Amino acid sequence: MCFFQGGERIAEAEECRVNNFIKNTANAETEEQSKMKKFLDLLSNEVGKAFEQAGYEKELGRVTISNRPDLCEYQCNGAMAGAKKYKKAPVMIANEVAEFLKSSEVFEKAEVVPPGFLNLNVSAEMIQKYLNDMASSDKFGVEAPAQPKKIMIDYGGPNVAKPLHVGHLRSAVIGESIKRIARYMGHNVIGDIHLGDWGLQMGLIITELKLRQPDLVYFDESYEGEYPEEAPFTISELEEIYPTASGKSKEDAAYKEEAMQNTFKLQNGVRGYRALWKHILNVSVTDLKKNYENLSVEFDLWKGESDVHDVIPEMVDYMKKEGYAHESEGALVVDVKEETDTKEIPPCMILKSDGAALYNTTDLATIMVRMREYKPDEIIYVVDKRQDLYFEQVFRCARKTKLVDENTSLKFLGFGTMNGKDGKPFKTRQGGVMRLEHLIADINEEMLKKILSGREMEAKEAEETSKVIALSALKYGDLSNQASKDYVFDIDRFTSFEGDTGPYLLYTVVRIKSILKRYAENGGSLEGLACKNYSNTSEKNLMMQLVLFNSVMESAYEEIAPHKICAYLYDLANAFNSFYHETKILSEEDEAKKAGWIALLSLTKDVAESCMDVLGFSAPERM
Ligand code: ARG
Repeated sequence: MCFFQGGERIAEAEECRVNNFIKNTANAETEEQSKMKKFLDLLSNEVGKAFEQAGYEKELGRVTISNRPDLCEYQCNGAMAGAKKYKKAPVMIANEVAEFLKSSEVFEKAEVVPPGFLNLNVSAEMIQKYLNDMASSDKFGVEAPAQPKKIMIDYGGPNVAKPLHVGHLRSAVIGESIKRIARYMGHNVIGDIHLGDWGLQMGLIITELKLRQPDLVYFDESYEGEYPEEAPFTISELEEIYPTASGKSKEDAAYKEEAMQNTFKLQNGVRGYRALWKHILNVSVTDLKKNYENLSVEFDLWKGESDVHDVIPEMVDYMKKEGYAHESEGALVVDVKEETDTKEIPPCMILKSDGAALYNTTDLATIMVRMREYKPDEIIYVVDKRQDLYFEQVFRCARKTKLVDENTSLKFLGFGTMNGKDGKPFKTRQGGVMRLEHLIADINEEMLKKILSGREMEAKEAEETSKVIALSALKYGDLSNQASKDYVFDIDRFTSFEGDTGPYLLYTVVRIKSILKRYAENGGSLEGLACKNYSNTSEKNLMMQLVLFNSVMESAYEEIAPHKICAYLYDLANAFNSFYHETKILSEEDEAKKAGWIALLSLTKDVAESCMDVLGFSAPERM
């Protein structure tokens, strides 16, 4: 250990600094070292130590990214914060601290500027060491949490027998990314699709089927045998039946009444109706799985509203018995308004006056079941932001009635609308609701056109590659906006290879892959490489982007904000491309230098691909 008193600089100082550096680098297994700190924490720690050595509190050493990048890379304003407490001019404190930082191996510059700022530049060794630690750490140094949380994510939320439309895209894309980010951070995450499989749409389909095929065995109430295994309809028939039935019910009151009765019969267990419902569910879920697979969206649980049907009576009894629920105009409600409310929050309705359960009821019962079966620390709902009042009611009701543990948090991530270029909700050219399948087909087709116009590629490869790129275009176009904001779906912009787009990012990674491949083909080995000290500004900028990875991932997780990963990935790609354009990598004659660059490229690629993976897309081999 080397300690320097006051400003005293002894001749061995430099040597000691170097020795220490080597020791720390080699001794990666000690307690302190085995945990990989975030870059800024490491810098703060170092400045904090200097504050302590100078006789001040360590916490004053917090380092932030410089807001004057023309003067320095990082800064610490602790001397100003400490001035009052220590009754000393900030510049004096800063000078004392700077004196201790002279021997630091972390900073190459620690300069005091009036009235007491510490302007800091990081040493090249520090960056190099950090990058190599990242490269050899699991997840580039993202620490596993001391106590992983169990997080349930309620997303997707499609309705059985209704085709997926663009409104379902955002929940799937955002929810999937949030799930992957939380998992990357080391938490236990369960994604649940929460199917809408129990409502009036079921009764409508049954009603229409009965009208068309009254002789089906499902409608024979005296039938006691087994029901056929084969469904009496295909998915395309089903998708035609539902809108027809829904249209009729709006015009024909008797038809609607019958559909409601049939829903009631289904929910109360009429055998033939349950059997038909199972067919509707199976046919529809098979189709949904295919659609979600095309989007690289995967659910751990395929539970639906119907799964909690049986526990509703128990829940209702409990709410009544404990005095939480009371009758109001025939309906059963729980009051959820609070004194501090500035807007009116209506009571949460548990049962309608005819005794029927509602959307609320199934959501509350689902919370009850989730607590029983999984005891999550957190449930995050990724749903259209127009449902925010609804979720406010449900959450308050769940808390008040103690369906949810005090320590379990319920979070609502409401997303905005996907608009067309006219600024209105996205529609088909004919003005109808756009089916998700068609939207995906459109963007695939556009991508294929772009690919074929730029290069020669075999038809099959072109088609597969265009799907991979189109997915990045679609997802990045969505995720790069803050979830709660509306955004404009712009197919030309999203599929462009330039600018802040998915294809640009993929292109960057493909470029790196091709350099690495050529390096290997020329006899270079990709094993055991290490980043070297930077030799120019663009290389340094790239390195400075890379070191931020783990803190970006952490804040994206904490703030439930995939757009932060998008912004980081875009900055990283830009930093790489500037470096690439300024550097002749493969033709470099100094082999050691070249190997250092290859290590840097390889790390850049791995970090970028990890970002893409949590966003839910990936880069092809070539494009
Ligand atoms: N199926 C619902 C809809 O289409 C969305 C479900 C959202 N999740 C929930 N737990 N309510 O609006």
